[in-house]
Amino acid sequence: MNKEKQKEEIGKYAAQLIKDEEVIGLGTGSTVKYLANALGKRIEDGEKFYAVPTSYQSMQLCINNKINIVTLHEFTPEKAFDGADEVDPSKNLIKGRGGALTREKIIGYSAKDFFVLIDDSKFVEQLGSKFPVPIEVLPLAYTSVIKRISEIGNPILREAKAKDGPVISDNGNFIIDLWVKIDNPKTREVELNNIPGTIENGIFTRECKTISIVDDVIDVK
Ligand code: 5RP
Repeated sequence: MNKEKQKEEIGKYAAQLIKDEEVIGLGTGSTVKYLANALGKRIEDGEKFYAVPTSYQSMQLCINNKINIVTLHEFTPEKAFDGADEVDPSKNLIKGRGGALTREKIIGYSAKDFFVLIDDSKFVEQLGSKFPVPIEVLPLAYTSVIKRISEIGNPILREAKAKDGPVISDNGNFIIDLWVKIDNPKTREVELNNIPGTIENGIFTRECKTISIVDDVIDVK
């Protein structure tokens, strides 16, 4: 099964875990889009869903599919659903290719169950093998953060594609991509967040359930 088909099947499967009237955390990215679209179909048939979105893209998915948008101030979702860029054998993650890592972490870490939707290209032996660790930083601190993390790996300020200059996150900040192999995800996650000016980083170490496809069959671990 090709990657896009895997994403579609995984998204549809995840949607079946959501009950009518349930409040969920809705992640960001191309896999979660299939989940939102599947909920949209059920809404056309009369069901109702509520979501705390993790980004403007996620908010747009809600609007387009008529999923009611709510906030963490009002609800703590039992379940949050999101994609990932890398997953190691202990189910630690790198997230944030789409720049939404901060809200994704706030919402993903608040939910009772965190479901991670991943096609088979996302499995790695060690975090940092294919993707950098994104770090959201206050613009005024980006040079001082880069100086500090240069001791750890190779930091690159993320440049915008359709705008001159850096990417601006949904929260108005810069994103630095740190290329580094991660030996101890839990320690690194805390260490990066201790650097002044850092808002959040894309290493996720909370317990999660992965939904993937193995030999053309859905696999939940
Ligand atoms: C965005 C993310 C995404 O969840 C991650 O990049 C996976 O995306 P996709 O499902 O498109 O592969 O972390 O910030």
